[in-house]
Amino acid sequence: MDNKETVIVLDFGGQYNQLIARRVRECNVYCEILPYTVDIQRIKEIAPKGIIFTGGPNSVYDKKSPHYTPEIFELGIPILGICYGCQLMAYLLGGNVISATDNSVSEYGKTETSYKDDVLFNDIPKEGISWMSHRDYINEPPKGFKITATTANCPVAAMSDADKKLYGVQFHPEVNHTENGKDMLKSFLYNVCECKGDWKMDNFIDTTVAQLKEEIGDKGVVLGLSGGVDSSVAAALLSKAVGKQLTCVFVDQGLMRKDEGDYVEQTFTKLFDMNFVRINCQEEFLSKLKGVEEPEAKRKIIGTEFYNVFWNKIRESYGTGYFAQGTIYPDRIESGKGDAAKIKTHHNQVGVPADITFEGIIEPLKDLFKDEVRAVGEKLGLPHELVWRQPFPGPGLGVRVIGEVTAEKVRILQEADAILRDEMDKCGYAEKMSQFFAVLPGVKTVGVMGDARTYDELVAIRAVTTDDFMTADWAKIPYEILGRVSNRIINEVEHVNRVVYDITSKPPGTVEWE
Ligand code: XMP
Repeated sequence: MDNKETVIVLDFGGQYNQLIARRVRECNVYCEILPYTVDIQRIKEIAPKGIIFTGGPNSVYDKKSPHYTPEIFELGIPILGICYGCQLMAYLLGGNVISATDNSVSEYGKTETSYKDDVLFNDIPKEGISWMSHRDYINEPPKGFKITATTANCPVAAMSDADKKLYGVQFHPEVNHTENGKDMLKSFLYNVCECKGDWKMDNFIDTTVAQLKEEIGDKGVVLGLSGGVDSSVAAALLSKAVGKQLTCVFVDQGLMRKDEGDYVEQTFTKLFDMNFVRINCQEEFLSKLKGVEEPEAKRKIIGTEFYNVFWNKIRESYGTGYFAQGTIYPDRIESGKGDAAKIKTHHNQVGVPADITFEGIIEPLKDLFKDEVRAVGEKLGLPHELVWRQPFPGPGLGVRVIGEVTAEKVRILQEADAILRDEMDKCGYAEKMSQFFAVLPGVKTVGVMGDARTYDELVAIRAVTTDDFMTADWAKIPYEILGRVSNRIINEVEHVNRVVYDITSKPPGTVEWE
């Protein structure tokens, strides 16, 4: 890690941990999430300006609950404990945590809270709503601490030992429901940790470009471009650093949305200085998919074919120099949950075949959250619609044509999907959705057009709103919009005679149909 000022979020398994880190970064302070299993030596080496203990689902008295060595309180580094992190701080320093056996004292949701004079609360009203989610509570803070906030049920809603720079809050300042929560975090970062706030996307671009230039020197660098946000922003950054030394390889398997391949090619060849290699291989993909109906088998074929086409090209022409990929921070966060802190492998991180040996792997976005990646993309001049595009599954329309995939079915789906996107864009609804698309279920139904009977394809519309894609609501799109989409699809797309709207949430449905 270089010498930028850093705050560590010590992960005790809470659900809002990435949110805490993002809030810290929004305050222009760089921050990293580390699992509670991290050795204290590593923390000493990083020498952070501050540490935040996260919440977590446990009670400090559970045998298996995550703890940390009390030595951390002796380092002289400011610490803020949140929820479970606050209870752990109280417990380890000799305060009294009550393990609630009934629900009478537990607090969930918005809670009226009174704040006292304290550096965290100096600039906010003394009464406000905080977001609580706890069963256990602290009824007596450790020696040397004063109580700095209370609620009707919670005698110690916040506590601090200003001399030792130790702070704790029972509520969650990182969630929007806590009024002025961001100000509290900001005060901790600036007034307690004395951060200067040097984490800005302009600085990031300048420093990263300089580092990339130095690292790559006069060598070549190759990047697999998918047209998604992460690889696109990585490409733009690398282009700024090394121009034509960069080659982007774009595999167009013919399973993208209508005209998307051309759009990606035009964007990168017109706006950026680089070599752009497009491999058109729809026929190869479709021939491998011929007769295959089972969703997992289709995914596997598409994944394997993609891997082979991409690496064969690299092997043939670009197997030296550096290999770059669009890994972003959430792809490589070590989780504090479970027994071992494992780094998960992710679709952004590609396995390089053993026979190809690069000088090294370059991941210019590896420290950024998605919203930061988007901010960098905008600053580098990528088109707004590319930077803000919806997630698109790796196997593309291959999992939206249900059952066997053929060129004709892909064409029908592309046309229907393009009409849906056009109508949603025109009425401003596109931006309100987390994701929407058309599906071709491969079902034929009877209809009547003019005076004639038809027997043609059914198109389904899927649209969801969600924060994290783990759960999702079906979107309540107004009937008039759905009506227009349906009319246009049936009138304009040959071989479609019926349109339906999917009103299934996740769970029990998934977002994609396959
Ligand atoms: P599901 O269908 O699992 O989708 O509810 C959740 C989100 O993940 C996307 N998705 C994929 N993304 N490769 C990807 O890169 C895939 O194989 C894949 N499958 C689903 C989906 O579009 C949604 O945003």
